[in-house]
Amino acid sequence: MTSTPTAATRPARRMLVTGAAGFVGSHLADTLLARGDTVVGVDCFTPYYSPDAKRAAVSSACDQDNFELVEADLRSADLAPILEGVDTVFHQAAQPGVRLSWSDGFGEYASHNVLASQRLLEAAHDAGVRRFVYASSSSVYGNQDRYPTVESDLPRPYSPYGVTKLAAEHLCGLYAENWGLSTVSLRYFTVFGPRQRPDMSIHRLCEAVGTGASFPRFGDGAQIREFTYVSDIVAANLLAADADVAPGTSVNIAGGGEITLNELIAMVGDLAGTEVGIENHPSQAGDAKRNGGSTDKARELLGWGPQVSLRDGIAAQLAWHETRRSLIGT
Ligand SMILES: NC(=O)c1ccc[n+]([C@@H]2O[C@H](COP(=O)([O-])OP(=O)(O)OC[C@H]3O[C@@H](n4cnc5c(N)ncnc54)[C@H](O)[C@@H]3O)[C@@H](O)[C@H]2O)c1
Repeated sequence: MTSTPTAATRPARRMLVTGAAGFVGSHLADTLLARGDTVVGVDCFTPYYSPDAKRAAVSSACDQDNFELVEADLRSADLAPILEGVDTVFHQAAQPGVRLSWSDGFGEYASHNVLASQRLLEAAHDAGVRRFVYASSSSVYGNQDRYPTVESDLPRPYSPYGVTKLAAEHLCGLYAENWGLSTVSLRYFTVFGPRQRPDMSIHRLCEAVGTGASFPRFGDGAQIREFTYVSDIVAANLLAADADVAPGTSVNIAGGGEITLNELIAMVGDLAGTEVGIENHPSQAGDAKRNGGSTDKARELLGWGPQVSLRDGIAAQLAWHETRRSLIGT
């Protein structure tokens, strides 16, 4: 049994975080910097949501001497100089979200999620990177016959987005098998917390209760989701960077406790002390009926388990929305 080095004993390392100005990437960069690592953050500030919000998310990292922000697009940038001396790659960059991945939108998903990942894997292999951690997604599962899903279940993505996340996960697997690149794919189950993307349901609910706007509910609200607090996702990444796991491994990172959308709406309303006004919309193509994952493998291989409950996490996210609104005056 190996012991995990403490902050005092661990040598500072050069880490690459792609998508460093995004929701998950910015939290990960902040945590790596706080423990003393040198971090190179890459982001091309895609317009999927406000680039200003991304600049705000990465601003605390940019204030640190041991952080370098490289504004570059992984689909076309010369990646060799970016990867020089990098110990671990945390590949968070992607075009997220299910709804825009249909129709003409698919090209963007394929290029940001598949082509960019393949270029990064190739460059990481060439650079001799020690570990490559990939932000995969529960969307690789689609609708399954039984829950919670386990990593050996046959992936059956239900959206074009899920197809692109699974394709990149397969690329991680084949760079591991063919070239020995030490990849680990973490299948995140819906992430929430401060800085959450504005297209996500908890973000929209927190804004609805804070501003009195109504919440657009897609479908009848019976869809089941499992949410994972962002600090738990960051912790899983740190553990995955150093765990003794076979190259090409995929692991569920799920927060525990599935909940229907209607129960979630009630919980946010209860915590905010107000009724949530609902605006009904038809269900959206690509939205799976349910997600929920077993964390047995994460516990066994990474020593990881969720620490933050949905209720506590939503309270923290509500506080973040309130502060943000008071700063921007809405
Ligand atoms: N948030 C979730 O609930 C969730 C769930 C499952 C998986 N994931 C995965 O986690 C990762 C992070 O998600 P997020 O919610 O933080 O998304 P996000 O959109 O907030 O962050 C992604 C960042 O990547 C950047 N980016 C995209 N394409 C790029 C490219 N070609 N070159 C450089 N930068 C690029 C974007 O500008 C953005 O800042 C993604 O890979 C996503 O698929 C997220």
